[in-house]
Amino acid sequence: AGHRIAVIGGDGIGPEVIDQAIRAAEAAAKKHDRAELSWNKLPWSTAFYKQTGRMLPADGWDTLAEHDAILFGAVGDPSVPDKITVHELLLPMRRKFDQYVNLRPAYLFAGVPCPLVGKKPGAIDMLVYRENTEGEYAPIGGQLYPQTADEVAIQTSVFTRRGCERILRAAFDAARKRPRKLLTSITKSNALVYGMGLWDHAFEAVRKDYPDVKSNSLLVDACAMDFVRKPEAFDVVVASNLFGDILTDLSAAVTGSIGLASSANVNPTKKFPSMFEPVHGSAPDIAGKGIANPLAAVLSAALMLDHLTLASSADAVRAAVATVLAAGAVKTPDLGGTATTTQMGDAVVAAIG
Ligand code: NAI
Ligand code: MG
Repeated sequence: AGHRIAVIGGDGIGPEVIDQAIRAAEAAAKKHDRAELSWNKLPWSTAFYKQTGRMLPADGWDTLAEHDAILFGAVGDPSVPDKITVHELLLPMRRKFDQYVNLRPAYLFAGVPCPLVGKKPGAIDMLVYRENTEGEYAPIGGQLYPQTADEVAIQTSVFTRRGCERILRAAFDAARKRPRKLLTSITKSNALVYGMGLWDHAFEAVRKDYPDVKSNSLLVDACAMDFVRKPEAFDVVVASNLFGDILTDLSAAVTGSIGLASSANVNPTKKFPSMFEPVHGSAPDIAGKGIANPLAAVLSAALMLDHLTLASSADAVRAAVATVLAAGAVKTPDLGGTATTTQMGDAVVAAIG
């Protein structure tokens, strides 16, 4: 009964922040949608790898596929290469479950210090749509004579017309529903003529179907500058895998803290489960201290509630986060305060009511 959610806390601060996300989602779903959520906590992590030699059991993907959504903390531990932790659990999940939409909102909350001078709360309000299954992160390439003076490497990007068109359509659909109806497509076809050339062709074709959306194309280097100079000019931004990855660290930084940056990895067909995770990693430098900001995870859980069509609950979680940040009494160290992860979670749950 209810919505079945698989929970992978993972490593470092992952389980710490996910616990608070679960509390907030539970409280909101109960109060605002009278919905039941069931949580299946899976121990897959670096510790699990050290015990079993695998990041997840042989039937792990089948287990995940039986759920309506996946809530994910972070993986990565200094004692094991990322090539195992990140590359055997997180990255294959996005491809196996065809989670081709990576949605990363960036919003400047009241009460959060913006590193850019003079930006008002709410002025930065963008949705970045990152392509999540191909492009520059296609696992294709090879090395010759590694770690010698003759070392040669090839890293191939893969751009398909279908892959580019589907992420562009997802972004245009979102832009159409927003008040400003603006979309910026990020490119670099002046230098990467083949792959980014195809991206631009897909953009030109798709935008014809959205005459109600004001769309333009922008080079990624100029975009990086404008994310700092005038982030308020952006509404929906759509970018390739690599460009979207880099630009969303920047959009997180200009909206105050990586500890507030949420994300959704969505399979819009709902053939496979979608996955919701904070943008940040396992933060080994602060793990176990109980001081990580849980709001990125909490806001990721809100994106999950949206996906489960529990929109009132999702809005209630976001409103509670906004209330807590604006009040300013409870702040974790990344926001300049001294509150613990649990105290921040308590404040959000209290604000949900
Ligand atoms: P990171 O995001 O874990 O940490 C970067 C900096 O931000 C650190 O100073 C950390 O203390 C701080 N930070 C991150 N999240 C925070 C939060 N919620 N509250 C307060 N401060 C926070 O990135 P880093 O250090 O590059 O990577 C650490 C490990 O995590 C690596 O093994 C990496 O591969 C992995 N990683 C995993 C990701 C995932 O599972 N999705 C994403 C990014 C990195
Ligand atoms: Mg990144």
